[in-house]
This record gives sequence, C-alpha cells and structure tokens, in this order.
Amino acid sequence: MQMREGMIPSITKSEIDEMVAELARDIERDYEGKEIVLLCPLKGSVLFVADLSRKIKLQQIIDFVYITSPKGESCRIIKDVSVDIQGKHVLIIEEIIDAGRTLSFLKARVLASHPASCKVVALLDKPARRELQLTPDYVGRTIEDRFVIGYGLDSEEIGRNYSDIYNFAQ
Ligand code: IMP
Ligand code: MG
Repeated sequence: MQMREGMIPSITKSEIDEMVAELARDIERDYEGKEIVLLCPLKGSVLFVADLSRKIKLQQIIDFVYITSPKGESCRIIKDVSVDIQGKHVLIIEEIIDAGRTLSFLKARVLASHPASCKVVALLDKPARRELQLTPDYVGRTIEDRFVIGYGLDSEEIGRNYSDIYNFAQ
C-alpha cells in the first residue's frame, strides 16, 4: 500500500480487529440462540461484514443491498434485499454513519418487510454530521467530523483495500 498525500494514520488494523471482536461479542450475547440476517450495504461495508460475520458464532444469513445517495438527490435502490427477512432478526452492517440519509432509507425499506427486529451496527459513527435523527445500536468507535479511508472506506474508490484506516484531506 502506498501512502498518498493527505493521508494520516488514524486506526490501526489491530485496533480495528479489537473493535470488530468486541462488536461480535455484544451481538452474540444479545442474539443468543437466534438466527440473524447480516445486511451489508455495498460497497463500503464489505470488509467489515466479512470480518464480523466470521467472529459471530451464531446461525446467520448474509445479504447485500446497494443504495446510492447522490448529493442533493434522494436515495435509490440499485440492488434490493434478496432474502426473505419477514420475521427475521436483521442487523444492518454499516462501515460508517455520516448524515444518516442512506441508513434511514435502508431502515425504512427493511421495516416495510416486517422483520422480527432491525438493529444497526456501525464500525464508525460521525454524530456531528447527522442530518436525520438516527442512533446506531452497536458502535465500534465514535469519530470526529473527518473524512476517513481504508478498511472498505474510499475516496473515489481509493483506499478500500487498505488494512488500516486513515484520515484523508481531499
Ligand atoms: P450518509 O447517508 O450521509 O450517512 O452516508 C453514509 C455513506 O457515505 C457511507 O456508507 C459511506 O459510503 C459514505 N461516507 C460517509 N463518510 C465517509 C468517510 O469519512 N469516508 C468514506 N466514506 C464515507
Ligand atoms: Mg456504506
């Protein structure tokens, strides 16, 4: 991995591993004996869900949705939920929550299918940026209003494959 101009190390791989392990422990405890659906919004959450799912020792289904939220436009579904979530315990797995627009939209979409429950897991949360009222149920770390890349998070597709997370001044 090549350091680019404007990248400042923020969260190391071992810190990420610890955050993911702790989230997995909390989820295992809260859903003991239940089957869960891990719903992963593409593309940023892919690395997170891959790690988290392997650490959660519960029966589980993984599914993907793809929602675009262009600035100033309303959210649009590119790929919808493809498993039957009615009566299921759904966990939306977000790598980061910013304004909360994508997540509010997705949560409404999930609730429309009448799941048994719907909770939100966020690796990173930027509450200072919130435009819509939304509090994740599980949070890895609350961060300041800075743009970050790495571990699935990108800036115009740069940084997704980095193992660590960096602050990035664009
Ligand atoms: P929201 O709908 O405004 O909450 O935006 C959430 C989406 O914006 C995330 O799923 C990311 O794809 C993207 N995003 C928000 N903040 C960052 C960041 O700091 N780095 C990379 N992507 C981000
Ligand atoms: Mg996302």
